[in-house]
Amino acid sequence: MYDFDKVIERRGTNSIKYDGDKMQDAHMIPMWVADMDFETLPEVKEALIKRASHGVFGYARPTDSYYQSVIQWMKTRHHFDVQKEWIVTTSGVVGALKLAVRAFTAPGDHVMVMKPVYYPFDVSINLNGRTVVECPLVFQDDHYECDFEVFEKQIVDHDVKMFILCNPHNPIGKVWSREELYQIGKICQKHHVYVISDEIHMDFIYAGNEHIPFYNVDPDFGDFSVICTAPSKTFNLAALQTSNIIIQNEKMREQFRKEKDASGMSDPNIFGLEACEAAYTYGAKWVDELVEYLSGNIAYMKEFFAERLPDIKVIEPQGLYLVWVDMRSLGMNKDELEAFMLDKAHLWLDEGYIFGTGGEGFERFNVACPRSTLKQALEQLEKAIKE
Ligand SMILES: Cc1ncc(COP(=O)(O)O)c(C=O)c1O
Repeated sequence: MYDFDKVIERRGTNSIKYDGDKMQDAHMIPMWVADMDFETLPEVKEALIKRASHGVFGYARPTDSYYQSVIQWMKTRHHFDVQKEWIVTTSGVVGALKLAVRAFTAPGDHVMVMKPVYYPFDVSINLNGRTVVECPLVFQDDHYECDFEVFEKQIVDHDVKMFILCNPHNPIGKVWSREELYQIGKICQKHHVYVISDEIHMDFIYAGNEHIPFYNVDPDFGDFSVICTAPSKTFNLAALQTSNIIIQNEKMREQFRKEKDASGMSDPNIFGLEACEAAYTYGAKWVDELVEYLSGNIAYMKEFFAERLPDIKVIEPQGLYLVWVDMRSLGMNKDELEAFMLDKAHLWLDEGYIFGTGGEGFERFNVACPRSTLKQALEQLEKAIKE
């Protein structure tokens, strides 16, 4: 059994989560960025130590065993058959989204996202001189749905060229079903819209749900889409900056590679390669236990709110370790809510409004922390509300 209860001091480690200005408040608990407070699995640490002790750090490239580890993980965990040539490494998924925007659309083109959604999607589009088109998701009391008529209408009305899908969907915790993905894919195919499916959270799926890689929905979908994967969320390796972008269509792959070269994105980092390979080779049991622990954290959180703060609604996640919470009953505007969380509850969260339309009045909690930290955070929140 792995120990996810262990509290690890992260201050003073160049951590954006623990070493920011807001952390000067000694009571502040950071639960914003999607970065876990858990140590990665021992085999990853050992692989890094072994490589570091070699002492020679010349240019690196992915080896065959690296690719095989990615292929095996996708196959055994997700029934996803990936061919070695389809994999392009990048130093991050957000970087890959930016490359995809540049590779498959032209300046001024329209790129669609669903809202609310992980905010770097908009940034990746806007920074590259393209325009964001929104498809607002419909909030039905305790979950979200896509209105496919609106989805198609937005594509047609705005002559959309690309759609960035978040599968599973950050911040709302939705795991898209095969039927929903089929509708998304068919509409995009009909209107010649490229789909970039960001599947970075694919390994955090809770009981009763299944992650469906976009290529597994329909054999034609590989013709016009890209799947972004990485070991970074699953194994807490974000700072090692290694992701695997899967592109079946050869022409698209060449366009993407060309854009990668043009952007100056460098060859992979040797530590990222070592960590990814060790994680995918040895990490299955670790991830199983982690997902079970996280599901315990989510259950704890739901129960806490139901019993002690019943007016606040937890949107039960089907996937991800990020929990979307409806705080609108507190009656605060977005600035008041943000100030309340920081100054009164001493919680550093991702504010709902940063995820765009439909996000205001919500907060996103990262619950990938020891249960004792979560407990402390919720007690701080309760105390602040009751005061
Ligand atoms: C949906 C999604 N994509 C991408 C990322 C970040 O990926 P990377 O660190 O590889 O750029 C995150 C991190 O939270 C995320 O939630």
